Amino acid sequence: MALLRFFRNGVIVGTVDNEDEVPVLELAEDGGIEIPRNCTSGNCGTCMVNLLSGSVPMPEPLPPGLDDDMVALGNVLICIGIAEGACDFELNAPL
Ligand code: FES
Repeated sequence: MALLRFFRNGVIVGTVDNEDEVPVLELAEDGGIEIPRNCTSGNCGTCMVNLLSGSVPMPEPLPPGLDDDMVALGNVLICIGIAEGACDFELNAPL
């Protein structure tokens, strides 16, 4: 099974198994990994993290919580993002 790994300032803070059709935030929370969140619908940007490796497609057009500059930095919204296979995330995303 594909693994999702979560880092904070480069230090690993937890891992969870990926599951089809389940947003990354939900998997992380079920795994006991605390990540700030608010709307859980892609609107506020609170759950933004940096995708270090792997693929988490974002919808087009982008939701209100994300813009092209944030995407260019490699950031994704994990409340709506579903990982494709294994991924690594930095929880302190560059802004
Ligand atoms: S929690 Fe608001 S965009 Fe994800």
